[in-house]
Amino acid sequence: MSDNLVAEDFIKRWETFYGESRTEKIIKNLKQKDQRILVPNSLRTDQDSLKLQLESKGFKLEPTTEFNGLIITYEPFNIVATPEYLSGMFSIQALSSLIPPRCLHPSPKSLVADLTASPGIKTSFLAQQMDNKGTILAIEKSTSRIPALKANLARMGVWNTIILNFDANLFSKLDIPVDHILLDAPCSGTGLKLAKNKRLRPRILKDIFRLAKHQETLLETAWQRLKPNGSLVYSTCSLEPEEGEVQIDNFLKRHEDEVNLLPIPLNIGSPGNKTNWKTPLHPQMAKTKRIFPKLGYDGFFTALMKKCE
Ligand SMILES: C[S@@+](CC[C@H](N)C(=O)[O-])C[C@H]1O[C@@H](n2cnc3c(N)ncnc32)[C@H](O)[C@@H]1O
Repeated sequence: MSDNLVAEDFIKRWETFYGESRTEKIIKNLKQKDQRILVPNSLRTDQDSLKLQLESKGFKLEPTTEFNGLIITYEPFNIVATPEYLSGMFSIQALSSLIPPRCLHPSPKSLVADLTASPGIKTSFLAQQMDNKGTILAIEKSTSRIPALKANLARMGVWNTIILNFDANLFSKLDIPVDHILLDAPCSGTGLKLAKNKRLRPRILKDIFRLAKHQETLLETAWQRLKPNGSLVYSTCSLEPEEGEVQIDNFLKRHEDEVNLLPIPLNIGSPGNKTNWKTPLHPQMAKTKRIFPKLGYDGFFTALMKKCE
């Protein structure tokens, strides 16, 4: 199979990892024009009230089947120009973003770290789950990405979050054990729809190995700072095994006696691959989750791990 938008090298590696028919579907869906989806901010409103309010202004909205999103089916003018958007009643994003925060169950008393936080979509979902109580440490290395993080959290009315502008790997030097960690790691982004991602070119392939190393270091830092009995969710918007199943397989080998790999508690997507180019991976790899690109979703990988006491 050849394709003018997706480099042959990607097609070949996906065919080996996922098989030919799945790869054909992946490519078709990466090119698909996506739905625009609103997710109500539970700190400000709920799905029914938001729908009524926006429909009174001429927008047409349909509830999503998963999560409590609203698909925009008619947009008389740009929805981000509404007072509802500007006052943080909703965010606009692919539903895949809800998966990692929904895997954690922080309480209003928890201390949570979001190690790679900007622009803060997932931080804001954590804050909603915690009812704006407890504390979230939102760490972001890139100074140029701090304004977007600040602006999003302020717009969404998130008050329980401390923004820290440093390399999350330095977190291991601070003696702050945390209850839950979200590591939505920097990645190749090969699961993103092509409309937002022009990166499926051959030169990106070498980035995968560099990024996988970076993810490994961040995972080790996260694990050091996690309290016993605490949970860690790892995610990437990548279709590459090195940034998904293989990363987790290596992690489990390094920490076999300390990790309990938990099933992703959501009835969506497919189990993680149990083999990598015919090499068997950890027998419990099917507990991880792969979301293949489809309407409303980018390609995504998620693993949930609990630290044994
Ligand atoms: C995939 S994005 C995170 C998206 C975010 N979780 C959200 O849902 O809005 C990865 C982020 O990690 C940041 N980052 C990369 N390396 C980092 C590091 N060592 N420490 C902290 N942040 C890092 C990048 O600048 C980028 O903003």
